[in-house]
Amino acid sequence: MYTKVKGTNDILCKDAKLLSSLEYCLRHVVSLYGFEEIRIPILTSTELIHRSSGDGSDIVTKETFDFEDRGGRSITLRPEGTAPILRAVIENKLYTKPLPLKLFYIGDMFRYERPQKGRYREFSQFGVEVIGSNSPFMDGETISMASTIFSALGIKNYKVRLNTLGDKASREAYRKALKEYFAPHLSELCEDCKKRYETNPLRILDCKVDHDSEILKNVPKIRDYLSSESKNEFEAVKAYLSNLHVPFYEDMNLVRGLDYYTNTVFEIEMDGADIGQSLTICAGGRYNDLMKQLDGPDMGCIGFAFGLERLMAILPDKGNDWDKSVICQLIPLGADAKAHLISLMHALRLNGMVSEMDYEAKNLKQHFRSAENNRARFIIICGDEELQNGSLQIKNKINNTEITIKEGELMEYIVKSMSHSHNHECCGEDCNCSDEECNCSK
Ligand code: HAM
Repeated sequence: MYTKVKGTNDILCKDAKLLSSLEYCLRHVVSLYGFEEIRIPILTSTELIHRSSGDGSDIVTKETFDFEDRGGRSITLRPEGTAPILRAVIENKLYTKPLPLKLFYIGDMFRYERPQKGRYREFSQFGVEVIGSNSPFMDGETISMASTIFSALGIKNYKVRLNTLGDKASREAYRKALKEYFAPHLSELCEDCKKRYETNPLRILDCKVDHDSEILKNVPKIRDYLSSESKNEFEAVKAYLSNLHVPFYEDMNLVRGLDYYTNTVFEIEMDGADIGQSLTICAGGRYNDLMKQLDGPDMGCIGFAFGLERLMAILPDKGNDWDKSVICQLIPLGADAKAHLISLMHALRLNGMVSEMDYEAKNLKQHFRSAENNRARFIIICGDEELQNGSLQIKNKINNTEITIKEGELMEYIVKSMSHSHNHECCGEDCNCSDEECNCSK
């Protein structure tokens, strides 16, 4: 009997349906931020991968699927999307379009890794790349978009691990300091780290083997080598994320496994997710030098990629049809309220919120049943009394609370409720959560 190739997966009917529904949700979220799809070949030139990922990176040294084609060309099955996307942008001169380019992609990647739960040789990534922006606000926007994807899928307990590698001058100063620091300890490092010492000493910080050693605990910190510009940029990124209540923490040992990263880097992980050793669901950062390195124009870029198998594994509601998920269900109590709520529903839809009203419902019970079938996150009820005083009753299904608010406050209320989750260090003034697990002081 033939069996599947080691490290690959069959995605059977139910999971295939879930995956396409998940992809729909991802496409929807990134379209709100102005991203367009790009599809590029799986077959890639080996040289492109070596030049971009770094000769000393794990991907290049141990993990690529390489072969020679019948014409003697060295081909690699793409192990990641960033460098191949930049190749397509440069080859098709997409950078001549108005910038920044905001591109997303979904597709299979190939890495010859030791297969285990959540780690495969053929796996699927959903990634985005912003090309032609140097603004730290774009870093904030990109990371908060990744966070919005978690919120949109109802995933809680995720955290953004954040660091900056600084600009070129900062990285060079830090690299020098690390080399001086590690030189007397070389014999105590693992074999891989001995090589990393020569190729990219920053990567020693990320080593899974030497992770808990005393040498790594006392290592110099990047913070002390950042130029004032890099420091200010990083502060701006953090302020952006704090302002939007994105749950993040700084980890000065985060360096990422691909050599092309510069400035902001991040990974999003889950507390206690059952997906094997590595809990990183999404990872990315800036790669400001890569365009130039691949013979394109000099432009700042940032992006991330989600591993779709890992994302599927942590979905809280595997029966959900994300493509049918309604944000607001409107329930009118009377004819005047109905006309009013139809205008409100129109406004919500124009603001990108999937909204529904059951025109056939004959009573309140039927309206609520529709809301349940639609898995509406906010049920908005309006009768004569609410009409008169310009208010709305809201049943918030995210945190199971009820509230009456002024109609003018609706948007702000929805946005806040959707971006808050219990692990946010927010749990202060604005938290309206009633979940027992929440550490909210209220
Ligand atoms: P990466 O960290 O190598 O980054 O991969 C991104 C995500 O792909 C990981 O966080 C994980 O969820 C998933 N992934 C990686 N390897 C495997 C595997 N063997 N099996 C299952 N899932 C896996 C990149 O690939 C960068 N290109 C991301 C990026 C985009 N940076 C800037 N733009």
